[in-house]
Amino acid sequence: MSIKTMRAVGVVPHRKELKLLEHPRPALAAPQDVLVRTLDVGICGTDREICTFVYGAPPKGHEYLVLGHEAIGEVIEVGASVKKFKAGDLVVPSVRRPCADPDCPACRADRQDFCFTWKFTERGINQVHGYMTEYFVEEEKHLYLVPPALRDCAVLVEPLTICEKGLAQAWQVQKRLPWELPAQPGKGRGHGRNAVVLGAGPVGILGAMKLKAEGFHTVVYSRSKKPNAKAALVESFGVEYISSEEVTPAQLAEKVGNIDLVYEAVGLARITFDVLEHLGINGVFIMTGIPGPHAPLPVNAAQLMRNIVLKNQAVVGTVNADPQAFRDAIHDLGVFKQRWPAALAKVITARHRLDAHRELLTGKATGIKNVIAFE
Ligand code: BGC
Repeated sequence: MSIKTMRAVGVVPHRKELKLLEHPRPALAAPQDVLVRTLDVGICGTDREICTFVYGAPPKGHEYLVLGHEAIGEVIEVGASVKKFKAGDLVVPSVRRPCADPDCPACRADRQDFCFTWKFTERGINQVHGYMTEYFVEEEKHLYLVPPALRDCAVLVEPLTICEKGLAQAWQVQKRLPWELPAQPGKGRGHGRNAVVLGAGPVGILGAMKLKAEGFHTVVYSRSKKPNAKAALVESFGVEYISSEEVTPAQLAEKVGNIDLVYEAVGLARITFDVLEHLGINGVFIMTGIPGPHAPLPVNAAQLMRNIVLKNQAVVGTVNADPQAFRDAIHDLGVFKQRWPAALAKVITARHRLDAHRELLTGKATGIKNVIAFE
């Protein structure tokens, strides 16, 4: 019997190669499985980093790893026990899969985003093939239903989950403030609070949309001087854009007032720690970026420590996302699409054919979110 194959984009780390591969076409193997035809796959910084071979690992016993962890697809076939989906449904898959340790409380509670053992796997990143291929099979529990109205933007669900989890963490931390109120009618939970987003890539821009929708007075702080396309996009949905080449972190804090929340989505340690020095009283600093290897950098450690203590600050790192973050991201993309349809459409720079993968993954990074379309 010949095995049917399909096209896939992957890396062969031990040969430092990025390749268009012939990969076996998957089929349902268990009753809870769902066969999905890939529609769109987003390219992110992590994919580009895997293509520099400092990150990422193939499945055990395989020499290559199929890339891609941001996807939307159409259900083709479901296993006998699948209840949530039927053929034709649109779905977004999550990324991380649990470790096998019976004593990992996080993984056993479907919260592998907090895995204690670090033996989790991640589709398209770490020991499980990803979605940059024509079909994939996934268990029902790792897929989320997407309304047809979000077909064109649902590839942004996964990058938005990073902010959804990050902000949920910030609210958990701020439970320490006994007077924090739940959202009032017509006002979000962030009403009256100041948020700064570091970085104007897709994770930053989607985060800015979420913070704005939650009622925060939101500023995006990013390198490029105005005018530029990202600044124009951010300002089109009512968020101020400030260039770090024109305004220092100290001046930023003066302009903004008490910085209650920083959502770091830039992955650069220098600017992150410079802005941390200006976090406000009772503020929370959410870090999501993963910097590449770098020589040590000097930081104003005593000042940082004074601030963290005297101003009751919290610095929280957050990675990956939980099921609620996926559901919230799908809901919020619907909100963004209603409120700012033109801005949301512009987050996707272009849809490309599979042939463009090499340029997208290893060429100069351009635009905001580039997508490979499989249709
Ligand atoms: C992905 C996360 C993943 C992280 C670390 C990010 O690009 O969005 O899902 O956990 O990389 O591998």
